[in-house]
Parts: sequence; C-alpha cells; structure tokens
Amino acid sequence: MRILVTQIIDPVGIERLQAAGFTVDVWPESTQMPREVLLERAVGCTGLLSMLTDRVDGPIMDAGPLRVVANHAVGCDNIDLEAAQARGVVVTNTPGVLTDATADLTMALILSLARRLSEAESFLRDGRFRGWRPTLLRGMDLRGATLGIVGLGRIGSAVADRARAFGMQIVHSSRTSGLSMPALLERSDVVSLHCPLTPQTHHLIDRDALKSMKRSALLINTSRGSVVDEAALADALHQGWIAGAGLDVFEEEPTVHPALLDCRNVVLLPHVGSSTYATRRQMAEMASNNLIAVLSEQSPLHPVRP
Ligand code: DGY
Repeated sequence: MRILVTQIIDPVGIERLQAAGFTVDVWPESTQMPREVLLERAVGCTGLLSMLTDRVDGPIMDAGPLRVVANHAVGCDNIDLEAAQARGVVVTNTPGVLTDATADLTMALILSLARRLSEAESFLRDGRFRGWRPTLLRGMDLRGATLGIVGLGRIGSAVADRARAFGMQIVHSSRTSGLSMPALLERSDVVSLHCPLTPQTHHLIDRDALKSMKRSALLINTSRGSVVDEAALADALHQGWIAGAGLDVFEEEPTVHPALLDCRNVVLLPHVGSSTYATRRQMAEMASNNLIAVLSEQSPLHPVRP
C-alpha cells in the first residue's frame, strides 16, 4: 500500500511507515505541495499524511482513492470532513502532543508584547540606546492583568495555567461556559484566541469586536488566522483601538496583510506554535501510527468527525 506525505516531516514518522511495510512517497520540497501535484501524486495512494496547509477535499480523496487522511496537526479546518464522512474516509489528527509547545509560545507572545521586546531590540540595534532612563520603553505588568481566553480546550487551559503563575486573572469564553464574548472583550487586558476555525468562529474578532476592546489591550492569536479579520486588525493597530497584537497565524499564509508589516506594535511569527523538536517528532509519530492503525483494519487512534 502506498502513502503520500506532503512535506518533509521528522524522519521517525517515515521510518515507522516503512517498517510497517508501506511504500512512502514524500514531497521533497520545503514549499507547500501545489494542488495539481497533490491531485496527481495521490493517485494510487490509500493513505495521505497531510499538513494543515493542504486543502484535502472530495477530489483529492477520490484521486487515491484514499481510505485515511492523517493530518499532521490538531486543527483540521483544511479537511472537508463532510466529504470524508460521505466517502467513508477516516480522518485523524494529533491532539495533546502540541499543547505545551503552543501554550509556551502563546506566553512568549504575551510577554514579548507586554514588555515590548521587538521594539526594544530594534531600538538597541538601531543604535538609539544612550543609557538607562526611568521612562524608557515602559510596558504592561502581567500581575493583576486580566487574560481573556477564547476557547478553553487543551491549549487554552494550558495557557491559563501558565498565566496564573504570572499573577494574571483569568476569564474565559467558550461554547459551553464562561463569559459572553462582548463581556470578555470589554474586561480583558490581554485576549488570547484558542478556538478552532469553524464557520461560527470565522472573523470572530472583527471590526466591532476590536472597537469594543480596551485601548490598552493586547490581542494574541496562535489558533487560526481567519478567526481574526486581518484588515480590521491592521486598522485597529494603526488607529489605536487596541495597543498591540501578537500573531503566529494569518488568514492567507504565507502572505501577511501588508498593513500589519508596518505596525510597530505587533509581533509576527511564521506559524511556529508547535515547532519544538520533541513536539514535531511526536506529531509525525502520531500521524504515522494513525495511518498504520487504519490501514491494518484497526480503529483510528485519534479520529476526527464532522
Ligand atoms: C495545529 O496542529 O493545528 C497547529 O497549528 C500546528 O502548529
């Protein structure tokens, strides 16, 4: 049986598939596999090890025809789950293993913005540091500040644990509990997004949401770019509706809205939330184990349903 892997992943994942007797076709480029190539190379494959950057829909599933799609990510908004269900294609993801890495990166963004790290480093590198000054680059204290967590799943909860250790007060809003979104936006000094991207959360943070936040507030997004209306966010930052934003994800990756690039009060990262050696190794292992389980007629270890 043949498996297509759409990016170079940690070698442990490929070794595992080969040891289980599968023929593995790995796209060797560091760029995203173009859709025409994906459609062509999927032909004759029963399994696909996909990235969050691949749009996996009915035509791709039919090209194989695929029996299983193992996403190398926890978020599965890149996969047409209804199309998979209609065809009996099993979809799996990699929950849990990236929680700590993503929560750590979220804290890094919060700290970076609160203490103006990017701005301070540019200031120094530009040769503008003339010595210690009582008023130089003052930032926000985390102790006593309110962190509003949107989506209290694994990652949101792990961020809450870390933030409590910094003395932050936690409020949250989720589908089943916590504050309403308007109340959370109004109260929070830092808003951090941890919800999946669904039709309901698309542009959850829009122009009106941004206008309802405190002018001193920071917005952090390590979930999916399209949860935020990026054009509205760029206006909010340029016009001072909020004080800053830390973004690891974007609406049209790898493109970043040009108006965000020239904002002083943003930290922009290239979707590296889960990027630690150990986490990426575990993600590769987990995706491969899911493929092996399904193609050996066992139940998927981490199934995703619509
Ligand atoms: C995920 O798994 O959904 C993350 O965005 C990958 O970093």
